[in-house]
Amino acid sequence: MAQPGLAQPGDPKGGLARPGKFHNQTCKVNFPVKRAIISDIHGNLEALESVLAHIGDQQIDEIYCLGDVIGYGPNPCECLDLVISNTQICLLGNHDQGAMFDPEGFNSGAERAIFWTRDQLENSGGSRDQIDQRWDFLGTLPRVHRDDPWLFVHGSPRNPVNEYVFPEDIYNQKKMEKLFGLITKASFQGHTHVPGIFLENLEFITPEQTKNVFGFGEEKFMVNVGSVGQPRDGDPRSCYIVLEDDQLTYHRVAYDFGVTADKIYQTPDLDNFLGDRLKDGR
Ligand SMILES: [Fe+2]
Repeated sequence: MAQPGLAQPGDPKGGLARPGKFHNQTCKVNFPVKRAIISDIHGNLEALESVLAHIGDQQIDEIYCLGDVIGYGPNPCECLDLVISNTQICLLGNHDQGAMFDPEGFNSGAERAIFWTRDQLENSGGSRDQIDQRWDFLGTLPRVHRDDPWLFVHGSPRNPVNEYVFPEDIYNQKKMEKLFGLITKASFQGHTHVPGIFLENLEFITPEQTKNVFGFGEEKFMVNVGSVGQPRDGDPRSCYIVLEDDQLTYHRVAYDFGVTADKIYQTPDLDNFLGDRLKDGR
């Protein structure tokens, strides 16, 4: 069902953006400054619709997606269509890549889900043009987006599609030094589905520790924006951030995960575990 404020497939691109901002009297259009950053949707339509509706209430200029639109979840086609219609930037995630090429490094459940997803993309939902549009979109997703001083990736600044940066990596000084050495100011990433902020002094800050708002100064930082469709920090609500001026804010959005889980249970090629974990946020 259509949600208010949510661009539907076929609508003009950028249906959620607020009117252009003007920063001086010559009416030169300023670069948009309020950005929602989402990641790891994983074919979870109920979560994505709830998050896009939440974003639609907030005067957002642009929506960036850090990858893994598909894989694991029961609605890959519908999620791709919404991402195509609503985001200005979308990056390549490892599951997106796995659906296009031979999946490597996935456990058997995830691999089975990828093959099922590939079959859905080819054989369900829509005209040949729509099917081609989804494949074309996947096939042209970039691995990195730079908007100096910001860097956007799915995994890490060193290996944009595949490398995980977990909270416990703060104990791996060499790894963290290498990653921070590749950042001008900050990177934004997903992949682990665990939201939080890494500081160069080897601290990891959870959203709870800052009451969901992180104001920044001169320091470098790496931000994991969390996951829309499969949170793994013990909170089943969808997670995303809004970046503006000198702060970022984490948002959690409740959605009906029972509906998504039921779809998974009814799909033999998707492990029941993939539904169970939505309820636990693990
Ligand atoms: Fe993911």
